Amino acid sequence: MASQNILLLPGDGIGPEVTTAAQRVIDWFGRHGTTKFEIESDLVGGAAYDAHGEAITDAAVERAFAADAILFGAVGGPKWDDVPYEHRPEAGLLRLRKDLDLFANLRPAICYPALANASSLKKDVVEGLDILILRELTGGTYFGEPKEIVTLENGDKRAVDTQVYTTPEIARIARVAFELARTRSNKVTSMEKHNVMRSGVLWKEVVTQVHETEGYDDVKLEHVLADAGGMQLVRNPKQFDVIVTDNLFGDLLSDVASMLTGSLGMLPSASLGLPDEKTGKRYSLYEPVHGSAPDISGKGVANPIAMIASFGMCLRYSFGMVSEADMLDKAISAALASGARTGDIADGGNAMGTTEMADAIIAELESLA
Ligand code: IPM
Ligand code: MN
Repeated sequence: MASQNILLLPGDGIGPEVTTAAQRVIDWFGRHGTTKFEIESDLVGGAAYDAHGEAITDAAVERAFAADAILFGAVGGPKWDDVPYEHRPEAGLLRLRKDLDLFANLRPAICYPALANASSLKKDVVEGLDILILRELTGGTYFGEPKEIVTLENGDKRAVDTQVYTTPEIARIARVAFELARTRSNKVTSMEKHNVMRSGVLWKEVVTQVHETEGYDDVKLEHVLADAGGMQLVRNPKQFDVIVTDNLFGDLLSDVASMLTGSLGMLPSASLGLPDEKTGKRYSLYEPVHGSAPDISGKGVANPIAMIASFGMCLRYSFGMVSEADMLDKAISAALASGARTGDIADGGNAMGTTEMADAIIAELESLA
């Protein structure tokens, strides 16, 4: 029997609640298929800081390297506002992304038919939406050096973050964009700010060059300035197929895109490295786009769909279990169609909790099986 080893990193806030819901879905697939899932858990974020004084331990990072895939909940919260910058909860996630070189972050925004009314945008703008934001995840402003706050001679302070990209970093994310577009509607929109940023100039140049010289002329490529792209995302999002953009713009634009689907609680993501040349193994981490939502944490009301759909992406991209991934997507869609709603996507009363939403999805899996 095939076996896959999953490292669960539930993290903080609603992270553990939505991870527990996803774990029930994993268990369901373990009972109903030909793949066994071995699950280990560890601490990350504020939870790791409280236990070990750092946002992730070396031992947990080693487990991450050893796992076939990582499922990550969420990190952060006001409780850790005053911890030293290098130990803040987010540092655990950033270290995993960097150490495992998870440069390609896939953030699909799909508007399920049943939720076309849940978006704050008009129904005809979002109905049928299916776009993919591809965010570069290991470079740019998040990691560029210098990154510091220094005190000047006159006592003023000066803060610096550095936006930096090299040719290979841009080329490899561009290739992923073109390859993904080929499996979808064959169109890539690259978003940067070449009108004010040197990194934008190079970004545009390299994406264009990869398109022209590496045989991707079957894929349509367009360039849109990132600010105009943000505007177009809420004006007419269905014009897009794959949007490729840098780390910081991708963070912003994917939060914007989430509202097209009805709620930030709907968006899954996959963070992938390059496949190893010898073994074919690629490091991968799956996480909801939403954060730890301290305001609703511990209440059992969080929407687990983004986390459960992140496991769906894990089935698809790490385990090659495409029919199971399709089945899970269908089950989520069917649960929504039958009226299952957590508070974030309900229009009116009787919203259900996290556990009930997982129940509804598992019931649909049962009837699809
Ligand atoms: C995300 C999150 C993270 C980011 C935080 C938690 C560091 O907002 O995955 O979008 O900014 O990348
Ligand atoms: Mn974000």
